[in-house]
Amino acid sequence: MSQPTIESILQEKRQFEPSPEFSQAARIGSLEAYEELYRKAAQDPAAFWAELAEQELYWFKKWDQVLDWQPPFAKWFVGGKTNISYNCLDRHLTTWRRNKAALIWEGEPGDSRTLTYAQLHREVCQIANVLKDLGVKKGDRVGIYMPMVPEAAIAMLACARIGAPHTVIFGGFSAEALKDRLQDAEAKLVITADGGFRKDKVVSLKPAVDQALADNAVPSVENVLVVQRTKAAIEMVSGRDHWWHELQAGASADCPAEEMDSEDMLFILYTSGTTGKPKGVVHTTAGYNLYTHMTYQWTFDAKDTDVYWCTADVGWITGHSYIVYGPLSNGATSLMYEGVPRPSNPGCFWDVIEKYGVNIFYTAPTAIRAFIKMGEEIPNSRDLSSLRILGTVGEPINPEAWMWYHRVIGGGRCPIVDTWWQTETGGFMITPLPGAIPTKPGSATKPFPGILADVVDLEGNSVGANEGGYLVVRHPWPSMMRTVYGNDERYRRTYWEHIPPQNGQYLYFAGDGARKDEDGYFWVMGRVDDVISVSGHRLGTMEIESALVSHPAVAEAAVVGRPDDLKGEEVFAFVTLEGHFEPSDDLKTELKQHVVNEIGAIARPGEIRFAEALPKTRSGKIIRRFLRNLASGESVAGDASTMEDQSVLEKLRQGS
Ligand code: WTA
Repeated sequence: MSQPTIESILQEKRQFEPSPEFSQAARIGSLEAYEELYRKAAQDPAAFWAELAEQELYWFKKWDQVLDWQPPFAKWFVGGKTNISYNCLDRHLTTWRRNKAALIWEGEPGDSRTLTYAQLHREVCQIANVLKDLGVKKGDRVGIYMPMVPEAAIAMLACARIGAPHTVIFGGFSAEALKDRLQDAEAKLVITADGGFRKDKVVSLKPAVDQALADNAVPSVENVLVVQRTKAAIEMVSGRDHWWHELQAGASADCPAEEMDSEDMLFILYTSGTTGKPKGVVHTTAGYNLYTHMTYQWTFDAKDTDVYWCTADVGWITGHSYIVYGPLSNGATSLMYEGVPRPSNPGCFWDVIEKYGVNIFYTAPTAIRAFIKMGEEIPNSRDLSSLRILGTVGEPINPEAWMWYHRVIGGGRCPIVDTWWQTETGGFMITPLPGAIPTKPGSATKPFPGILADVVDLEGNSVGANEGGYLVVRHPWPSMMRTVYGNDERYRRTYWEHIPPQNGQYLYFAGDGARKDEDGYFWVMGRVDDVISVSGHRLGTMEIESALVSHPAVAEAAVVGRPDDLKGEEVFAFVTLEGHFEPSDDLKTELKQHVVNEIGAIARPGEIRFAEALPKTRSGKIIRRFLRNLASGESVAGDASTMEDQSVLEKLRQGS
């Protein structure tokens, strides 16, 4: 099993110190230095962040108040005026970084582009003007549905520049999922591409936008801006659709950054939760900028000479915070790669590292497990000596995968930063600072300075060393989500009331289980709610159930995660059928495809099992615990006596 078990982590005693040379050259170079920073930040978080905000960001106008905390609603740097696009671009132009590579992009077919800060600034300004000409105003939402091309980053920065919050929708989502998100955000314009390249195939995107907008399903959308990437034939709706390159050619490169309020919305990013449709996580301007800036700088021990590569897609928070905003705010060189390892080129990641001399490499455990399976001859045949730091994110990394990553990719010399965080947190919350904190395989180690993380019971009391509990944060931090778009109540309920506030102290509930060991190291155990992680992609079981139930053959559906060696978890669906439908393999295939159409290929069930009935409590709640056991082939744990009908379980076990 790939997920760490309590037993395996309790036995994990290995510890890796950064080398003295690494620590000496690091921004934060000793455990004492980290502890001193942590202590100072914990004593007065607002003062700590204010000092950094002054030092690290450009402000059109300084704030009046650092933190206004009306639990669970936070405002940071109240009254301040800044712009993240300015911080990511303009301020570097008056320095030597003007001609430094901001983005290096490698396309899957082997084409590539480098944009210096000056060039990136120019293109962002042009597209910002294009957006304005198409009627986008400050506050209007813009949907971005793109492959991994530089234009995706340019689009985000252009939106930020004019104060139009973006909502990036991962290119792997279906037309249905795209429609839901565009509707919820009431997007005024959509930026997309004809398609992209994935695993040696051309995948289309624009047709999904056409489908999402068909029958005026999203009346707020007035225009669609289309990047030409694959040159596949697509339809252009006259008056609505415009080619990016055509409008860019006529656009002025002069577009001063809008003076944004610290708390003006920067973006909405949809993510899966326990209930209902995906929720729009809202992030605002200044706090997000500061926090992604600092976490990038300290966690990756940023040096101006680094080539940094994060393999995430810009459609996820990792792409937002650590391909675009965090690195560029620091004036770093951020590499974007369109491709993924594929049969025709399983070593493509190592080729990219060799070609560009990548120094910092940040990827996900699911990718590492796939590399292990492909064999170490592939990376061993490439020159990976440029690497300095390795990172991982998205799910708990099992110690074996960590050791392999350290030895084979890092040559035993690169610290690994295992960064625990979420869409909601905006930036890294628990992570090693590589020159300071000794690492233990499988542990995200210690909280970032200013983050008062803890492991607690359901009443909010800290649990003892090595006792399992809920991962929480006890004090607001600058890049915390501000609300669920359009739904303050859902925000309050989901994150702040799960563990009831005590004496006015609110705890942010992350939805993860964790334990802290005797050295204060955090070991994240995974979700404690109905969210599953498939290849590091976060999916709500409810969402997949709703997709299944929307098919005419399905009466009821229950979805659980089944442990999978490569993906971490796989979607396993139990389905009962409407009376006149018969179970068949064809129907299974049809239902799997139906989920793909409703959500996207990432949610395709690995297995569907037909059942006559689902196990329920007497009050009618589906008992997922039993289903999880059944899906993973384990014996059904716990007391089944609360079940309405005992025979249901037996039939499920025998089910097809
Ligand atoms: C999981 C991704 C263990 C966790 C940045 C969290 C992790 C969810 C780690 C958020 C890690 C992320 N170790 N688990 N280093 N990083 N997770 O919103 O369950 O896509 O709650 O953000 O991923 O997923 P999200």
